[in-house]
Amino acid sequence: MKKDKITIAIDGFSSCGKSTLAKALASELGYIFIDTGAMYRAVALYCFKQGWITKEGIDESSVVNNLDKITLHFERNLENSKLEIFLNNINVEKEIRTLEVSQLVSKIASIKLVRSKLVFEQQKMGKNGGVVMDGRDIGSVVFPNAELKLFVTASPEIRVERRYKELLLTDPTISKESIKANLEERDYLDTTRSESPLIQTQDAIILDNSNLTPDEQLYLALEIVNERL
Ligand code: DC
Repeated sequence: MKKDKITIAIDGFSSCGKSTLAKALASELGYIFIDTGAMYRAVALYCFKQGWITKEGIDESSVVNNLDKITLHFERNLENSKLEIFLNNINVEKEIRTLEVSQLVSKIASIKLVRSKLVFEQQKMGKNGGVVMDGRDIGSVVFPNAELKLFVTASPEIRVERRYKELLLTDPTISKESIKANLEERDYLDTTRSESPLIQTQDAIILDNSNLTPDEQLYLALEIVNERL
């Protein structure tokens, strides 16, 4: 029997417009949007503040032995009605988006026990369906039975341009070169790590949004969703 509220898994590379699409889809459908990248970023921020991770290296045993000290939850911001992430009850939605955290997060995301903790929480949040979840392993690991899986892609140049515009709003000194290097490094680490690497599952529908506006991308995705509902 077809469900009223399905689970939509959105995976893809960094800065491909996954979150933009996931947010818009969730709002159109009245579903919950969960940004799983924010969860990995929040763990990276915590470990950075504790001094367990720097650009030079990572103290993996401190990270793993202290995972139970990290609590994460999402709360709706009443001004813009978006879900924002809280790390140990403190809103870190802005702090996790810096290039500094982007440069550390892939190392954190490659640790097996970090992944199992976050995957468990993601599965709990999405167990009743009516959820749009975006990340790297949603269709492959978190919800392998999701009714709809989208794999979002865009050309490397467009991804750099989009990230540049976004980060420029908070950091006028940011350079395109540093963003390009970070995206290339994260693509490499996300696709080659041994724990749940980013893959395109066979049942995922590819959505290349290089030449699409956010509205066009949403329209296309809604057509696909309506076929599944
Ligand atoms: O989507 P994002 O760029 O905010 O994600 C930050 C990092 O977290 C990304 O480099 C890979 C990792 N990540 C992951 O490994 N698995 C997920 N489900 C989501 C993100």
